[in-house]
Amino acid sequence: MKFLWALTALLLSSWRADATTGPKIITEPSEVSNQTSAVLSCNLTDTSLPIGGSYWTHNGKEIEESRSKASTHYTVFRLEKITYHSGGQYECVFETDPPLKTTIEVKTLPHVGAYKHSEHGNEQDKGMLTCVAHGHPLPTDWTWYKKEDGNATSISNGTERYEIRSTPYKTILSITNLSIEKDIGDYVCTGTNELGSNSDQIHLRVRSRLAALWPFLGIVAEVIILVTIIFIYEKRRKPDEVNDDDDSGSAPLKSNSTANHKDKNVRQRNSN
Ligand SMILES: *[C@@H]1O[C@H](CO)[C@@H](O)[C@H](O)[C@H]1NC(C)=O
Ligand SMILES: *[C@@H]1O[C@H](CO)[C@@H](O)[C@H](O)[C@H]1NC(C)=O
Ligand SMILES: *[C@@H]1O[C@H](CO)[C@@H](O)[C@H](O)[C@H]1NC(C)=O
Ligand SMILES: *[C@@H]1O[C@H](CO)[C@@H](O)[C@H](O)[C@H]1NC(C)=O
Ligand SMILES: *[C@@H]1O[C@H](CO)[C@@H](O)[C@H](O)[C@H]1NC(C)=O
Repeated sequence: MKFLWALTALLLSSWRADATTGPKIITEPSEVSNQTSAVLSCNLTDTSLPIGGSYWTHNGKEIEESRSKASTHYTVFRLEKITYHSGGQYECVFETDPPLKTTIEVKTLPHVGAYKHSEHGNEQDKGMLTCVAHGHPLPTDWTWYKKEDGNATSISNGTERYEIRSTPYKTILSITNLSIEKDIGDYVCTGTNELGSNSDQIHLRVRSRLAALWPFLGIVAEVIILVTIIFIYEKRRKPDEVNDDDDSGSAPLKSNSTANHKDKNVRQRNSN
């Protein structure tokens, strides 16, 4: 009996839900693509519904200045200057019971940026170049090029010492066994979405393994020099001190001035 009741309630509620799909929101435009500015609008067709107000969201976050208490069935949001920051999902929300909402997609070219514009690696090590994309939609394709005498040659995944790993958000080009002759240069990453492409460039420097050792060798050399200096100094000082003490006996042999000086020292020592 309880089960039957639950089933009826379920059927009833689904029938009701069907009925409430009545009020519709008409968006204008339905999508924004590659534009520098736009006016997004939503029109709630059922004008008999009581409305507490309306607002817009961008990628799920409420746009505060868009909030309105007016019970109008029509709301607009102006995008004055569209950049990759402004791309994404815009949603108009009418505060009815329950709230009614619809999405307008704003699409831009992807923004592509190198993680670091200058990378360096040591000979025979692995080099990693990274580019990141922002905007909506994110790239569906990534390509890498190497600039050679003004020519850009495409790099294929898995060829030679190259490996490319990409997600919509970023791409990483790894080069194994770096070579000074072959790998130094400028690399271009290009991200492409349905609207087009954008690129950025990374300069790769490769140091010889010896060069990588220089700082270490420098420190070692410094330590050796320091130790040598200390050693020599100590070795020279010790006999001096011994002589010094011996000298006190033979002071009359020295000039008066040094003898006076010694006397002073002795006096000072005594007073201490
Ligand atoms: C909203 O839609 C209704 C019905 O489609 C139409 O009559 C009305 O003119 C629209 N309002 C605006 C402001 O576009
Ligand atoms: C660039 O590449 C093309 C074909 O890939 C070649 O014909 C041309 O000589 C290259 N130019 C330079 C400057 O290397
Ligand atoms: C490149 O190849 C590796 C292994 O062969 C693979 O894991 C990776 O997904 C490939 N990357 C792209 C962008 O196809
Ligand atoms: C790395 O490259 C050098 C030549 O540039 C080659 O002699 C060496 O065998 C390579 N090492 C590996 C592990 O592939
Ligand atoms: C989008 O605009 C850029 C220049 O602003 C242009 O190069 C590209 O072709 C456009 N894409 C589409 C799909 O219209």
